[in-house]
Amino acid sequence: MNKQIIFNLGHENLAQALVQAKGLSSGSYTYHRFPDGESFIQVESDCTDKQAIIVANLHHPDDKLLPLAFLADAIRSRGATSVVLIAPYLPYMRQDKQFHPGECVTSRIFAEHLSKIVDRLITVDPHLHRYHSLDELYTIPSQVLSAMDDIAEWVRANILHPLIIGPDSESEQWARTTAEKIGCTYLILEKHRYGDRDVEVDMPDLSEYANHTPVLVDDIISTGRTMLETAENLKKMGLKAPVCIGVHGVFGEDDYSKIKGSYVNKVLTCDSIPHESNAIMLKELISNALV
Ligand code: R5P
Repeated sequence: MNKQIIFNLGHENLAQALVQAKGLSSGSYTYHRFPDGESFIQVESDCTDKQAIIVANLHHPDDKLLPLAFLADAIRSRGATSVVLIAPYLPYMRQDKQFHPGECVTSRIFAEHLSKIVDRLITVDPHLHRYHSLDELYTIPSQVLSAMDDIAEWVRANILHPLIIGPDSESEQWARTTAEKIGCTYLILEKHRYGDRDVEVDMPDLSEYANHTPVLVDDIISTGRTMLETAENLKKMGLKAPVCIGVHGVFGEDDYSKIKGSYVNKVLTCDSIPHESNAIMLKELISNALV
């Protein structure tokens, strides 16, 4: 008998892909939102002696954390021995420090809550900047996967003379790794952020790369201003329009259309968050991590 059962929480394609790849059973539950905004959850599947795996899209986490907690609890009430969370995009990783008095270090509080809800966490390229490991935040065991092999493979297959660019110092871990896997040159730029949609990116002289295709690599594309500002600078320098790659396409409002309408060749993301920009699929990476 198969001892794992998969539940989908907003990540249907990935959950289904894992069910098929691993030959697992698919968990079923009813979710209802009452007119007052509160949630009702009932798990129909028997989970006796099984490890339950919740595949969740935690983009817009404030709306997702409570349903996740309710689902995990209901799964346990059906006899699951443990609950594993696959959250390819791990939110609330960027406020990793109190910059001003009174600010909540949301990464820590979010981690504390999530650690009480599930028994184990699997995620992809979390934004580890001032923290070096999820163990500094999470009290449950966690497994960090990286999409860099998949991103490097995409670049190798699609771009002739890539110049990998990390648009800020925080992106170095992703840009450098991608370039090393491809065996091409990379540069890391310096970014100054003045507000959510107000950034400046300093550019060195790039005239020697006029024949290259700039490929901007970052973990998160949110407002897209980091990519957009860098692309505009490349245009001023007479370089080719860049390909912009983010592991996680967080995009708010009309940010995706704005960035697509700027001086860019292509904007693509991994399917850690389902979005029309998804071009790099993570099912194999995640399925291989499931034992
Ligand atoms: C920085 O913390 C991240 O690595 C990204 O550079 C950042 O989230 C991008 O934000 P935006 O798309 O809003 O410029």
